[in-house]
Amino acid sequence: MNILSLEDFSVEEINEILDSANEFINGKKVDYQGKKVIANLFFEPSTRTHYSFEKAALNLNCKTMNFDEVNSSTKKGESLYDTIKTFEMLGVDGFVIRHTQNAYYNELVGKINVPILNAGDGTGNHPSQSLLDLLTIKRQFGKFEGLKIVIVGDIIHSRVAHSNIKVMQRLGMTVYTSGPEEFREEGYNFVELDKIINEVDIVMLLRVQHERHKSLMEMPLEEYHKKYGLNMERVNKMKEDAIIMHPAPFNRGVEIADDVVECSKSKIFEQMKNGVFVRMAMIQKALEE
Ligand code: NCD
Repeated sequence: MNILSLEDFSVEEINEILDSANEFINGKKVDYQGKKVIANLFFEPSTRTHYSFEKAALNLNCKTMNFDEVNSSTKKGESLYDTIKTFEMLGVDGFVIRHTQNAYYNELVGKINVPILNAGDGTGNHPSQSLLDLLTIKRQFGKFEGLKIVIVGDIIHSRVAHSNIKVMQRLGMTVYTSGPEEFREEGYNFVELDKIINEVDIVMLLRVQHERHKSLMEMPLEEYHKKYGLNMERVNKMKEDAIIMHPAPFNRGVEIADDVVECSKSKIFEQMKNGVFVRMAMIQKALEE
């Protein structure tokens, strides 16, 4: 089956994926004996998502192929569909795809007969990131219902925010957004960070995605840091058991102060660790259902 957007999955199914990821953390073994090949096709830069999917595939004893876009026929004008169809004909068993275009998968669904895992589409969805965020939250708090989160920063360009806001609300969390006016999105619960910071269970920071906006943010980075960045002064106002999250890559000194990255409340590196187990659960589900 494809895993393209969490909107296609019920709350029960989402919890099942998280339970499966937890079983992998606790030592569950699944071994495809080198008989399945997962192709990673990233048409946008990636470190964590790409290599986390690759490590997940290797942990399941799958083989992997990594598409090198820069040296591919994409540069000769080959379309996404023709590229993916080619890999299907080569005999791969699953695709992990990241692409700049929102909902790029709409042109593939029904025509590609191998499961597709969406590793991020433009400013649209990022289901594996949401699942690893949810796993991190569930492992910390044991529940979702009633938790309050503020997502701070470049909401409008963030597929992480877009995926998370929808699924977190379905799971019974209260989601606030914060940050500069330019990044604000209609329909989301916008608040001043300093007004809400002492009430929330989770502060999730987002990177300012310079590559996605032309001149939207003219604010100097020091000013951004002062107004919206998470520094130790703000961390000290957070609830005792509240946590800090960030999908990374982070800009130290912009949305997050250097000394906050690995402070006791920060789960940022734990998120990366959880990502491998969530992606093992996703690959298994995609291959078997
Ligand atoms: C994010 C992405 O690419 O959407 N990173 C990630 O996958 N961990 C967020 C970002 O690039 O800022």
